[in-house]
Amino acid sequence: MGKITIAIDGYSSTGKSTLAKQLAHALGYIYVDTGAMYRAVTLFALRAGLIKDSRTDDLLLIKALPDIHLNFQFNEDLGFAEMYLNGENVEKEIRQLEVSKFVSKIAIIGAVRDKLVEMQRAMGKDKGLVMDGRDIGTVVFPDAELKIFMTASPDARAARRYKELLDRGEEVSYEEVLKNVQERDYIDSNREHSPLKKAADAIEFDNTDMGLKEQFERIQNFAERVIEKV
Ligand code: DC
Repeated sequence: MGKITIAIDGYSSTGKSTLAKQLAHALGYIYVDTGAMYRAVTLFALRAGLIKDSRTDDLLLIKALPDIHLNFQFNEDLGFAEMYLNGENVEKEIRQLEVSKFVSKIAIIGAVRDKLVEMQRAMGKDKGLVMDGRDIGTVVFPDAELKIFMTASPDARAARRYKELLDRGEEVSYEEVLKNVQERDYIDSNREHSPLKKAADAIEFDNTDMGLKEQFERIQNFAERVIEKV
């Protein structure tokens, strides 16, 4: 049976990574979380003092890009690949609200996107992968055989992200999380370079009122029907 490329795009906290991991696991495919790559570059910029008073020094960051080495390493216990920045496992740090606050600003920088898109295309050259992000079906793999575009109400998404952060022991308020979700949606959708938008041939999925199991079963069904035909 042939392998396909599955692109999952959509708004922040719509459960893209949960769905992508489930699908990759069921199909024996590789899962790539491209948001983790933008987050790791943001962590690098924060640590290097390139983000001060909410402003990013784009020129210095672009200069430093050759010093940013990213790779994923599969964690057997967790069942998915974790993000490494210059050899260090940064999986936990990149999920903190501090990184979420600045990541959309880093993701508008063309040179950053070019570097990460090139890496993403290399990872997908043999197909058999599920990749999630904002521009996977539109820019990274416009020829992906299956494209899903995920949405849910801002309140439902903020509530999910709030619970996730509390479970991880972060002290945040619901209002702060909702504001972050809305700000990222706005920047991600309105940036000049590869804005978040639904590809014309993507299937739109609103999971505001849908459980994880039902969502997974429906999308797995789509995937199997596409795979049968290749
Ligand atoms: O999926 P996430 O919330 O971890 O992504 C973090 C940010 O990275 C998101 O707000 C926008 C950016 N991003 C992007 O611009 N392009 C991608 N392919 C993935 C993420």
